[in-house]
Amino acid sequence: MARRPIIAGNWKMNNNKAQAKELVDGIMYGISQLDASKMPEVIIAPTYTALWQAYDLIKNEPKIALAAQNVNPNPSGAYTGEVSLDMLADFNVKFVIIGHSERRQMFNESDEFINEKAKAILAKGLIPIICCGETLEQRESGVTDTHIASQITKALKDISAEDAAKSVIAYEPIWAIGTGKSCDAKEANRTIGEIRKVVAKLYSQDIADKIRILYGGSVKPSTIVEQMAQPEIDGGLIGGASLKADSFVELIKGAM
Ligand code: PGA
Repeated sequence: MARRPIIAGNWKMNNNKAQAKELVDGIMYGISQLDASKMPEVIIAPTYTALWQAYDLIKNEPKIALAAQNVNPNPSGAYTGEVSLDMLADFNVKFVIIGHSERRQMFNESDEFINEKAKAILAKGLIPIICCGETLEQRESGVTDTHIASQITKALKDISAEDAAKSVIAYEPIWAIGTGKSCDAKEANRTIGEIRKVVAKLYSQDIADKIRILYGGSVKPSTIVEQMAQPEIDGGLIGGASLKADSFVELIKGAM
């Protein structure tokens, strides 16, 4: 039942060409010092403009995989400003982050659109990293678990058990993102346990035991060890602390 941990860096709208190169070079140097057999799966999600460069820099580095921060589920055509799965696959992108609260809130992405993206990603043989999480108001009014259950149920609609088992979920309480205030590790563990129960109900205990569920929200080198010690937490989706090679490598070490 061992699930391989994941450390994923979500760069968001950060890093120009020079910064992206410095960061990827720094991560590659850092991980060259680590025992490959103990390493988590390491994923970086650059901006679209930095994808080509990241792809080129890591092409001989199997220990790092690429993720995109978004995708349009349509195959091609008149979608100004959008990028397709074919284009991402061309750059060896393996994962796509979907349902991030920033996209749900700022770009009005619905559960249905997120589900459409998840299905398209899986159909192309890529893996969705499906984000979910509650606002502070939802947490304070006691609806965290039902809210997340609804997000996950809708995101996984019409997805086969086999595809669900390959998918990755990221639990990211919105009040913990970019605030420096990480969710208490035990509470994150409890909530992720609830997500696993939702997956068990939708599919089976076997699928729930296989699916990897990450925690995200102000993960730092100082929090990662306690977070990784929780049995339900399979890794981290990290924004701010993934932007410097030193701290990202510390996070990778924290998951070893
Ligand atoms: P943060 O972002 O680590 O900066 O809080 C996490 C995320 O939004 O994925």
